[in-house]
Amino acid sequence: MSSAEKTIITYGTFDLFHIGHLNLLRRLKEMAGRVIVAVSTDEFNAQKGKRTLIPFEQRVAIVEAIRYVDLVIPEVSWEQKIDDVKTYGVDIFAIGKDWEGKFDFLKEYCEVVYLERTHDISTTELKRSLKHFLSIPREDVLRALDVLDALRRELE
Ligand code: CTP
Repeated sequence: MSSAEKTIITYGTFDLFHIGHLNLLRRLKEMAGRVIVAVSTDEFNAQKGKRTLIPFEQRVAIVEAIRYVDLVIPEVSWEQKIDDVKTYGVDIFAIGKDWEGKFDFLKEYCEVVYLERTHDISTTELKRSLKHFLSIPREDVLRALDVLDALRRELE
């Protein structure tokens, strides 16, 4: 079977969509003609102890708009993977190396691949930066904006 004829599936939260997510989805499209992304619902994230900044419907809309993605389905539980592989005729299950070994039980049903992550970026890191940014005192932000404004005027 050529890779163009294959179906690949991945699972994830895709909160604060970033370049690591995009690189992963591009890689999936290079590996298979049909790319399915299972996006975790807010309820499933809550079960995992994960709180998202972007609601499920918006995360789905963003992932659906990516040209490498053919179909988005909801991820509602840990147990759905075998059913999904059968329902959608999945040939390859792929996910980032942070999950290495965790889904080997799927090898009975399809190929399982753990992909290299993009270095130096993650939603957790973005959330940390945002928290740090929001904790900067208001006066400091206003002073920085004044400096930038003066610079801009100088350059005009
Ligand atoms: N991913 C990646 N490279 C990154 C970040 C994520 O390849 N720098 C991959 C993950 O390995 C996973 C998919 O993108 O297969 C969705 O990951 P997700 O957990 O939604 O993103 P993270 O940025 O890893 O989020 P968090 O920090 O909350 O775990």
